[in-house]
Amino acid sequence: MDIIKVKDYQEMSEKACSHVINNIHRQDAPVLGLATGSTPEGLYKQLIEKYRQKKVSFEQTTTFNLDEYVGLENDDRNSYHYYMQEKLFNHIDISAEKANLPNGSAADLEQECRNYEAQIQQANGIDLQILGIGLNGHIGFNEPGVSFASRTHVVDLAASTREANARFFPSLEDVPTQAITMGIETIMESKAILLLVSGKQKTEAVARFVNGEISEGFPASVLQQHPQVTLIADEAALGEV
Ligand code: F6R
Repeated sequence: MDIIKVKDYQEMSEKACSHVINNIHRQDAPVLGLATGSTPEGLYKQLIEKYRQKKVSFEQTTTFNLDEYVGLENDDRNSYHYYMQEKLFNHIDISAEKANLPNGSAADLEQECRNYEAQIQQANGIDLQILGIGLNGHIGFNEPGVSFASRTHVVDLAASTREANARFFPSLEDVPTQAITMGIETIMESKAILLLVSGKQKTEAVARFVNGEISEGFPASVLQQHPQVTLIADEAALGEV
């Protein structure tokens, strides 16, 4: 695992941006795995900036997001579809057909999960998966206890995850109780992983991720077994690591 220690959130976002652009430039038809949440917002701002400066184009890029809430329409302000449009897709030259997220309002959610897996396979897999980490070690919405053999599936969200994400909703009751997420095995099949972490509230999670035992009780620990992981973390998040 490569660990890149940076000063703060801004530097994490800039370093992540260079890493992503290098990856895009290495491939004819790059496939990126994307995350939502607070962590990658700075990265997306940087990517938009580089696109405006004509340092990168996304015309050939295909993206697959990690997850989406169940029961929210794509145009719901709290859906991850909406987040991605607002924070990235509306501002770059990616084509709408190449920007993929699971459809959390599909009538048949199990079929939707199978379709999403098939789409990733058809794109020849993910070249670079961007990840954030939850306080309980979740990646995507793979909560503690998830099987390391899981593929894209419907999950019940942990109470702690709903509480952590309530800041984006009018109230806790409005936070959906389920989501579709890529599974651990789906994530592990990505050719490379870029994990971003910022802030002292994540210090314990980072320490467990880097040095803790590999266990389904702390899903991110599985990444210790991936051959190509880059962690970009700021001083606050790294703590003593
Ligand atoms: C988002 C996702 C989640 C977040 C994690 C950290 O698509 O899959 O695993 O990466 O909850 O969220 P933030 O960045 O808001 O701390």
